[in-house]
Amino acid sequence: MATTARDSAIPAGSIREDAWWVQPLLTVLVLGGFIVYATWRTFENAHFTTLGTDLFSAGRVGDLLSPFYSPHIAIDWKLLGYHVSPALLILPFPLSFRLTCYYYRKAYYRSFFGKPAACGVPGSRNLFGQYTGEKYWPMAFQNLHRFAFYAAFIFIFILAFDVYKSTHFVDGWGISVGTIVLLLNVVFLAAYTFGCHSWRHLIGGRIDCFSCSVMNKTRYGLWKKATVLNENHQLWAWTSLFGVALADMYIRLVTSGAIADHVFFKVVNG
Ligand code: FES
Repeated sequence: MATTARDSAIPAGSIREDAWWVQPLLTVLVLGGFIVYATWRTFENAHFTTLGTDLFSAGRVGDLLSPFYSPHIAIDWKLLGYHVSPALLILPFPLSFRLTCYYYRKAYYRSFFGKPAACGVPGSRNLFGQYTGEKYWPMAFQNLHRFAFYAAFIFIFILAFDVYKSTHFVDGWGISVGTIVLLLNVVFLAAYTFGCHSWRHLIGGRIDCFSCSVMNKTRYGLWKKATVLNENHQLWAWTSLFGVALADMYIRLVTSGAIADHVFFKVVNG
């Protein structure tokens, strides 16, 4: 096809005239910012629990625990004179889940590697050259996702238990700002996790007839619920990312003594 005057006015490298670069740029800024913050907090190895703080001795039985350091692992390992952070033992699980998530793949292939940067913008469809799907290495590592899901599934219950612990005081139980923050975090994470494509396949895949047995009907019901979450998977991916960062920030502020954890109400034991 002949090149027209209009074609020659199109910026090199793209046939799009809109601000297609805004979305990848925002992704780099937000996801990059989260990676920097999470890395710093992982290695900080401090201010992640109210255990041993004034807040704890003032009446909490269960601690407020940062999601980056949950479950609480009490280790005292040293490597090259450096105290190993327990968050390093936890990080591989949520990290591998997000890194191999179908939505995040799209986001970081486009924004960090420009493969391609957006629809209609030239660029190979694979990080490593020719697109071969995910059958061959190194792209085959993305198949880890279904296994990372199992770990993410367990973490939902671990984090829910942290919410439960945060309601326990020496003289009763109550709800504080910390409880709400941890609760929102686990709700956002659950919405993200149970909208996962792997989960949807796990509960609804490999069935020929959804109505042929009670089990299949139950699976169909779960699959429909997962589909509702799956349709907004991108939204939950970002909401849960902000949720976990904000929950950690809040716990850090409380445990470092910068702010107090306000208790909304407490039911005192009789
Ligand atoms: S596809 Fe995104 S979490 Fe599984």
